[in-house]
Amino acid sequence: MAPALLSDLPVLEDLGDVSSKRVLVRLDLNVPLEETPDGGRTIADDFRIRAAVPTLSWLLERGAEVTAATHLGRPKGAPDPRYDVAPVRERLAELVPGVRLLDNLRFSPGEMANDPGFVTELVEGEDLYVNDAFGACHRAHASVVGPPALLPSAAGRLLEREVRELGSLLGDPARPFVVVVGGAKVSDKIGLLRRLTEMADAVLVGGGMAFTFLRALGEEIGDSLLDAEHVEDCRRLLEERQSLVLPLDFVALGPGGEVEVVGRSVGAGWRGLDVGPLTAEEFSRQISSAGTVLWNGPMGVFEDERFEGGTRAVAEAMAACAGHTVLGGGDSVAAVERFGLAGRMDHVSTGGGASLKLLEHGDLPGLRALREGRRR
Ligand code: 3PG
Repeated sequence: MAPALLSDLPVLEDLGDVSSKRVLVRLDLNVPLEETPDGGRTIADDFRIRAAVPTLSWLLERGAEVTAATHLGRPKGAPDPRYDVAPVRERLAELVPGVRLLDNLRFSPGEMANDPGFVTELVEGEDLYVNDAFGACHRAHASVVGPPALLPSAAGRLLEREVRELGSLLGDPARPFVVVVGGAKVSDKIGLLRRLTEMADAVLVGGGMAFTFLRALGEEIGDSLLDAEHVEDCRRLLEERQSLVLPLDFVALGPGGEVEVVGRSVGAGWRGLDVGPLTAEEFSRQISSAGTVLWNGPMGVFEDERFEGGTRAVAEAMAACAGHTVLGGGDSVAAVERFGLAGRMDHVSTGGGASLKLLEHGDLPGLRALREGRRR
C-alpha cells in the first residue's frame, strides 16, 4: 500500500471524546431509485445506506449529535424533486434512528463548485467532521474537501476499510494478482488499465471494451461496441504489456435476433454481447489459482439472461477462490447481488469511480483533505 495512505489518515478514535459534540458526517447515500406503480420513488438497493451504519452507530453510542449529508443523483445545483433525499432519509431512520439528514447537497450550487461560502454554511454550529463517503472522495466538492480545513476531522469506518482494502492492492498483494476488467467503455478505464497492467500478473479484459482491443489487433468485430478514438491507445497498451488477456470467443446477437457462440471475430451484422464459454472457462481458471483478485465491470449484458454467462462465471469463480477477492464497485456489484454471491466476496466496494481513481492515482482528494486537515 502507498505507505501514507492509511497511516496518516485520521480515524474516529482521533476525534477524542465525542459526547455532546455536534458532528457533521458526509456520507455517500447516492443509491439507485426506482419508480413505484403510484408514481413515487423507492430505493432499489440500500447497500450504501447499510454501509453507513457502523460509523453513525459509533458516534451515537458515544453521545454525539449527528447531522448527515449526502448527494443523490446529479441535480444541477438547484432543488429538483427527482433527487429529493426523502426515501433515503426514511430508510436511514429505520436503520439508525436519531440522525438528521440534510437536503441533497447538490441542490446548492456551492457543492460541486467547492465554494468556500458553502463550506462555511455546512460547518456552521458543528464541532467535528467525519468523512465516510468513500464513493464521493474522488470529487473535490465542498462537503468532501472543505470541512477538514475548518474542523477537527476523521475518516469513518467505511472509508477506513475501503482505503485498507483497495490500498492493499497498491502495495504487496498476494500473487498471482489477477484483475478482471469489463464494462462498456474503454475511454473511462484506459488510464486505469495502464496502471493495472503494471501492478497485476494478468489483466483479463471482457465486456464491451474488449472489442476496441480486438479491433486494435485487426479482428472483425461486426456491430459490437467500438470506441474508435481509443483503438490506438489499446494498440499501444497491447504492445507494451504482455499481461493483458483478451476473450477467445463471444455470445453474439445476429441480425435476425438469433443468439450464437462465435469465435474471436464477430461477423457483419452481429453484436458480441457476452464473452463465450471458452473465455469464461479460461478466466475462471486464472481466477481460481489467484492469490488476489480485483474485479470491476461486467463481462456482458448480464441483465439479459442470454448474455449473463460470462459475468456469472467470473462471479462464481471469485466466490470459490481461496485468495483475497475484491469487487471494485459499480455494475459488477449489481451483478453479484443479482447472482446472490455478494456475501462470498472478501470486499465489495461502495465506490464506483472512487475505487477506480484510487487504484489509478494512488490517492483521492477527499483523503488528501483529511490528511492535510490533520497536519493543520
Ligand atoms: C457514485 O455513485 O459513484 C458516487 O456517488 C459519485 O457520484 P457522481 O459520479 O455523480 O459524482
